[in-house]
Amino acid sequence: MPTVTPDPAPSIAQLLAFYLEAGVDCALMDEPVDRLADMDVAPARAASQESAQESSDDAPKRPSLASMQAGAQARPVLPAKIEVAPEVVIAAACEAARGAPTLEALRGVMEAFEGCALKSTATQLVFADGNPQARIMFVGEAPGRDEDIEGLPFIGRAGKLLDKMMAAIGLDRSNAYIANVIAWRPPGNRTPTPQETLICLPFIQRHIELVNPDILVTLGNPSTQTLLQTKDGIMKSRGRWVDYDTGTRTIRAIASFHPAYLLRSPGYKRMAWVDLRAIAAALAALPARES
Ligand code: URA
Repeated sequence: MPTVTPDPAPSIAQLLAFYLEAGVDCALMDEPVDRLADMDVAPARAASQESAQESSDDAPKRPSLASMQAGAQARPVLPAKIEVAPEVVIAAACEAARGAPTLEALRGVMEAFEGCALKSTATQLVFADGNPQARIMFVGEAPGRDEDIEGLPFIGRAGKLLDKMMAAIGLDRSNAYIANVIAWRPPGNRTPTPQETLICLPFIQRHIELVNPDILVTLGNPSTQTLLQTKDGIMKSRGRWVDYDTGTRTIRAIASFHPAYLLRSPGYKRMAWVDLRAIAAALAALPARES
């Protein structure tokens, strides 16, 4: 297919703006890789002719060994990667998380963990921010660009709004704790895959257990559905108190809107305010902590 280049050709600035708009805001390698140029299309054509012949028979439409090999040859040569079954990776994450006796140890095992592919494209682990002694813990979905650069959760535009929401009920990062279900930024802020979420789940579960807050607030659908084990959408799940079992005790949990969603749909701020007032009331009703 001929390449269609607009006339006049876009400037570098226009191209960069286009990529940014499409979510491509970081380079993974120093040099670009033209993956199409590496492809040897001849074997692929042979394979398709062979499968056309096959399909004229009444034979079952299963790829032959030859066509699979031809297909494999047609693919660009990528560095060898050892595939590990997802269950094995999830089990490794569970074991690593369970073995961490403190938050610092948990940070250490997560930094050393190689089972989540997101780690290879992220700049760094985004572990948490705030006071680990806090009685309230907020959990979002995954770090974005700003968080990836700084290594701290919720510091971009959505984070600024979260700060304002917390301030409205007397909270800040000195008396609240903040983390995400996923601790590495998905490239281009894409939605984490279910497998990535399952791999990261044992870490955030252990994280919550170690912080041991009295109140857990899940921000947005992905965090709520993952941690509070519901299939309900945020419109239904928000503002409802549920029990959350940390593994060592049962605490109260509530879902509310993700601040990024509120930035896009400010009309829901009214409902978010209802949730915040419920959270403030629950915090005020907590018995004093034994020292
Ligand atoms: N959105 C999230 O869910 N978490 C962050 O840390 C930032 C944006």
